[in-house]
Amino acid sequence: MNVCIIGTGYVGLTTGTCLAFLGHKVTCVDSDDKKIALLKSGQTPIYEPFLTELIAEANGNLQFTTDYAEAIPNARVIFIAVGTPPSPNGSPDLRYLSAAARGIGEHFDGDFTVVVNKSTVPIGSGNWVGSLVREAYEQTHGCKAGRRFAVASNPEFLREGTALSDSLYADRVVVGSDDPRALEALYTLYRPILDQTFGAPTFLPRPEGIGAVPLISTDLASAELIKYAANAFLALKISFINEIGHLAEKVGADILQVAKGIGLDARIGTRFLQAGLGWGGSCFGKDTAALVATAAEYGLSMPIVAAAREINFRQRERVIEKLLAELKILKGRTIGILGLAFKPNTDDLRDAPAIEIARKLLQRGCKVKAHDPVAMHRFRSEHGDLGVICCDSVEQVAADSDALILATEWPLYRDLFWEELAPRMRSAIVLDSRNALDRDRLVGGGFRYLSIAGSASGGDASHRSSQEIDLMEAAPRL
Ligand code: UGA
Repeated sequence: MNVCIIGTGYVGLTTGTCLAFLGHKVTCVDSDDKKIALLKSGQTPIYEPFLTELIAEANGNLQFTTDYAEAIPNARVIFIAVGTPPSPNGSPDLRYLSAAARGIGEHFDGDFTVVVNKSTVPIGSGNWVGSLVREAYEQTHGCKAGRRFAVASNPEFLREGTALSDSLYADRVVVGSDDPRALEALYTLYRPILDQTFGAPTFLPRPEGIGAVPLISTDLASAELIKYAANAFLALKISFINEIGHLAEKVGADILQVAKGIGLDARIGTRFLQAGLGWGGSCFGKDTAALVATAAEYGLSMPIVAAAREINFRQRERVIEKLLAELKILKGRTIGILGLAFKPNTDDLRDAPAIEIARKLLQRGCKVKAHDPVAMHRFRSEHGDLGVICCDSVEQVAADSDALILATEWPLYRDLFWEELAPRMRSAIVLDSRNALDRDRLVGGGFRYLSIAGSASGGDASHRSSQEIDLMEAAPRL
């Protein structure tokens, strides 16, 4: 099929690349000419494992342009995958969405076209996008749009860092529309994924045991709500284990054992029960806030979701409390932060807990040093004015520091020669805020080991899927 993707962020670029790899003719359009020039040269504006490789495999089926007139007219399915960043009052900024909808209305050729909301948009946006497309089409072409197009919602469940395998080997595909023709078109588009008939790329092998991928067809509003409900549930799962972790610390229990002990109950599941610093990134914070705000419009409160948010942001403060309890005085101390990205395998710094912790430490008069294997460049350009000393190696971070905080569990940090770091430090303290390090090894290497969620044993990756571990192993090492 001829497909157009508007927006080349994580979602747009991953979706476009995967669809092109599956054999569709895809044109990605973005108003940012620097991004498009970079993509045309075979590079990507984001760090995502195997993305450049898959773009190369899709070669010939994947085009990039800044021009709507080039991308839209022949496309039978147009995905809107533009950013919906939070505005100052917390509600999503829909400027880019509205511009994309108008652009579609102005440029589409009048043959039946499906307009798909792939961005996470407030519930009800499908109708709104439909009205913008219709209005722009009628103004431009001087005739009624009628049934020439239909709107669908096709929410995205990919995680940054594992975006390609999440898309190709999805747990499910959700499509929502009030027009059966749109559902039919999306079924055709996703068929290779649904039936798993495509030849797997060598660098992203098909996980063992994966069968047909379920397709969930719904009305528009249900698909929109599924996206928010999924993210909110994952977010509250993390906050739940962090709340239990706080209690575990008080009663002397080990949260890693507790997580495994409850997670092996198939009704609960082991994933997203990794206690620690809590969630960051561009999705959970924004989507839980939007869900609470949407409910409020209908006179409803969402106390569970609101509590999950509160617990999450409290975890960041607990890092400071832990350090205070240990060092007594923070003013004048040097604290090293290992990991800046909001999670491993990405260079995304949006709502990264490490950055908020750095800010809090600086406010308390600390000197802050930091290292990240991938996000350093982005950090320098986006947060260069924060006053954090950027280090090219972990050794530089450790030198004369009073404590190290592990903020992002990049695999390379687990495998450091910790024994050689301790003597470089003013006081060999490590706060493992992700429960990812080997406590015994650190203690043996002369460290005082602290965690923020009641872990006696330190890191344990056994809750992760083998695919996640494979991807982590593929990540850069020192
Ligand atoms: C999340 C969802 O997982 C995706 O399904 C969804 O498509 C995406 O948001 C989105 O809406 O676009 P993402 O934000 O990329 O994906 O990353 P996650 O892997 O979900 O991690 C989010 C945060 O939770 C990270 O800061 C991570 O460190 C933290 N986390 C995750 C935990 O603290 N504990 C866990 O057990 C799992």
